[in-house]
Amino acid sequence: MCGIIGYTGGRSHAPDDGDVLDVLMTGLSGLEYRGYDSAGVALADSSLSVHKRQGEVSALEDALPDGSVGGRAGIGHTRWSTHGPPSDANAHPHTDCTGTVAVVHNGIIENYQVLREELETAGHTFESETDTEVIPHLIEDALEAGADRESAFRRAVNQLEGSYAVAAVFCESETVYAARHESPLVLGIGEDGHYLASDVPAFIEYTDRVIYLDDGEFATVSPSGVVVTDDEGTVVETSIETIEWDPEDAGKSGYDHYMLKEIYEQPQAIRKCLRERVNEMEGTITVDDLADLESSGPVQFVACGTSYHAALYGAQLLRERGIPAQCFLASEYDVDSIPVSEETLVVGVTQSGETADTMSALRGANRVGATTVALTNVVGSSAARECDHAMYIRAGPEIGVAATKTFASQQVALALFSSVISGECSQAFVEALRDLPDQVQSVLDNSTAREVAQTYEDADAYFFIGRGYNAPVALEGALKMKEITYKHAEGFAAGELKHGPLALVTDRTPVFAMVSDDGTAAKTLGNVKEVEARDAPVVAVTDSRETVDQYADFVLEVPETHPVLMPILANIQLQLVSYWIANRLGRSIDKPRNLAKSVTVE
Ligand code: F6R
Repeated sequence: MCGIIGYTGGRSHAPDDGDVLDVLMTGLSGLEYRGYDSAGVALADSSLSVHKRQGEVSALEDALPDGSVGGRAGIGHTRWSTHGPPSDANAHPHTDCTGTVAVVHNGIIENYQVLREELETAGHTFESETDTEVIPHLIEDALEAGADRESAFRRAVNQLEGSYAVAAVFCESETVYAARHESPLVLGIGEDGHYLASDVPAFIEYTDRVIYLDDGEFATVSPSGVVVTDDEGTVVETSIETIEWDPEDAGKSGYDHYMLKEIYEQPQAIRKCLRERVNEMEGTITVDDLADLESSGPVQFVACGTSYHAALYGAQLLRERGIPAQCFLASEYDVDSIPVSEETLVVGVTQSGETADTMSALRGANRVGATTVALTNVVGSSAARECDHAMYIRAGPEIGVAATKTFASQQVALALFSSVISGECSQAFVEALRDLPDQVQSVLDNSTAREVAQTYEDADAYFFIGRGYNAPVALEGALKMKEITYKHAEGFAAGELKHGPLALVTDRTPVFAMVSDDGTAAKTLGNVKEVEARDAPVVAVTDSRETVDQYADFVLEVPETHPVLMPILANIQLQLVSYWIANRLGRSIDKPRNLAKSVTVE
């Protein structure tokens, strides 16, 4: 949700004037998954040079002037609109009236109306409808009142209420100033310059050494070094961490879309999630991340979107093992009305570790003394740092906005988590986990999802049904279909179909039914027959072809596995169907309209 990048320095391998601009543009491409309705850069030289455009980063690239755009420091931004529609004027960076300072911002400034009115009354003219534009004007006021640049930046930021990661550059300066409060910001420590960004993919090509800023911290980033201070200006000791991602992980590796690449990376992602956690010889599961966790009370999961679907699966797993577990949409989690106490274990399932709704739920749980766990992909993310424990899903970077491999890794991580919490683990389960990556590979190698996509690309709507462990996958299948095809899709626990949604079923609404040989098949088959009787095409996703063959128009097979793991395999088939329909419809698969990865506003 909006991406910001900043850079200062001169990389020795490209020490020309275009250097800073190159870094910013590369950074913006690496951040585009966070928002893509407009983009812009500001470079600081004797004057500020600001370029911004509505549209994707490629539109900004086309709008840049021919020849070099000089500057020793710069900032850039990809936008996902909150205040004001996408337009050139609303694109960041924003500047003050004198053209001295340029600012980029991710988050929401809740008191911007009041600030704007005060500034306008004092004679400031605004060019955009954004909340962000108040910041450069506040800095301008502070400068006029005699503050130096750093103090002016600090004074302006201290007047903001809401959430922000903000960065500013001034003309005639090589320093980038930044601050964070409830929006992510990470510093990159390079050999020939330093970086700041909303997320690591922005600069992973240049450095893997990072410092994560905490809420309330400020950073002064100059070619010679980085200084982090708290909100009172006291220098904070920081530690540099090394990111394990390979820059290659963040590329497309020859695939047409990141999403397809990430779907195909699932065997590897699952292997990484299982590594050193499953001991086949001893038939045990241990997760070092949770070594210090002591929990005997009820478990509550909080999550949004795809992660919520993973959390539903996690809650089911725990309940099956005798542990009371509930699952809440993070945006509906209110510690004042939900029974949560010091005995409760609250698990935030969040691949980014930055989702505002999930963070707000976790902070509420922390406040009442619950033990909190972040189940996340991002080391150093807000969730990982603010929770008592963090279990990493190890999926590697996911750039496609629609979550794929992170969902599979969340499912696997939750299967491990449930074993650790309950102490239950069978040899059969351990062996099924061992075989899972190869089985995912075989689904990818043998899937006929592309044929299904070709047959049903014109459908009016798509329905997804499943029971038990497959019910969350039905929801996820529908969400993926909506996100990337823009077609109507709904997912249901199979038994619910007849309680209303069946009214929508026609011969133009394919129904995807997950039929698993786990004791639920007979009932789900009953639901399949109900839709078949209404002429709906049936696509069965199953580990038991013979059970369903006669009722299905298409069968998407998955290998037999432990019943707990079947939904992981079934979901791969659904991902591929959605991908290929979206591909045939020419959709913007990696950057679906109106969406952004990592939603950092509530
Ligand atoms: C959908 C998708 C979203 C996210 C949701 C939560 O494909 O990715 O629904 O799952 O925004 O994000 P995280 O997991 O980062 O908290």
